[in-house]
Amino acid sequence: MARVTPDQIRQMKARGERIPMLTAYDYPTAHILDEAGVPLLLVGDTLGMIILGYDSTLPVTVEDIIHHTRPVVRGAKRALVVADMPFGSFQVSPEETVRAAIHIMKEAGPQAVKLEGGVRVAESVRLLTEAGIPVMGHQSVNVFGGFKVQGKTEASARALLNDVTALEEAGVFAIVLELVPAELAKLITERTSVPTIGIGAGPHCDGEVQVLHDILGLFPDFTPRHTKRFAEIGAAMRTAVTQYLDEVRSRTFPTAHQSAPIDASVIAALRSEPPRRPDGKPDRGPSGSSGEA
Ligand code: KIV
Repeated sequence: MARVTPDQIRQMKARGERIPMLTAYDYPTAHILDEAGVPLLLVGDTLGMIILGYDSTLPVTVEDIIHHTRPVVRGAKRALVVADMPFGSFQVSPEETVRAAIHIMKEAGPQAVKLEGGVRVAESVRLLTEAGIPVMGHQSVNVFGGFKVQGKTEASARALLNDVTALEEAGVFAIVLELVPAELAKLITERTSVPTIGIGAGPHCDGEVQVLHDILGLFPDFTPRHTKRFAEIGAAMRTAVTQYLDEVRSRTFPTAHQSAPIDASVIAALRSEPPRRPDGKPDRGPSGSSGEA
């Protein structure tokens, strides 16, 4: 089965076909999402909060991204896997950005990288695409101090449009629009040939990305406003684990069914002998008597 390509993602916009994307950080999840038909998987730096328990995405390293991208690439046979470039890996210079992206591509094998920024990172995006690395852009305000809605004033809305144009010219194959007012996301989506993938950006983007744990009710700390719970997997896990605890404590689980059979004569032979120590000598027991003459 052939993998989805960046060109196919562009064609989906041209055909007016919606582009769903979800995060994945491990093998079984990637496998399930791939089988369900998700065309784009993101190993996002949100793994810092969702998987590693940090209170922001900022501590995530390139090595963390590589560690989680590898199993996702192994688990997904068809989806295009995008690895996020974490904070610190694309801020210093375009050359360092290319070096970090090549490291991720070689070590983890995703089909693309994603990095945040607009005009500021356009030169890096240009170098990456020239080097043959497909790039997904990401317009977000995720700085020290958290996430903020963007483009609410005329000046910041214009700046956002400029950023999108700069990313388009630099060669991105798609752009994530995060926390952008819906009408502005609509305008941007109409004005750019590049597929826009929204999150907290309303219904008019070409696609939508969500953090899987948010839509499954699997992240315990909080539920962002921009998400919707499609299942309560966290609650289902708690119920299942409570039942497991009850059954282990009450000796209802495991039963003989969960173990392998053995011929009764083997056990009878062992039982007919006195207990032995691991070195093969007779066990003298607590009284010091081996029971042998
Ligand atoms: O890291 C991530 O999961 C992301 C999404 C919020 C788009 O960048």
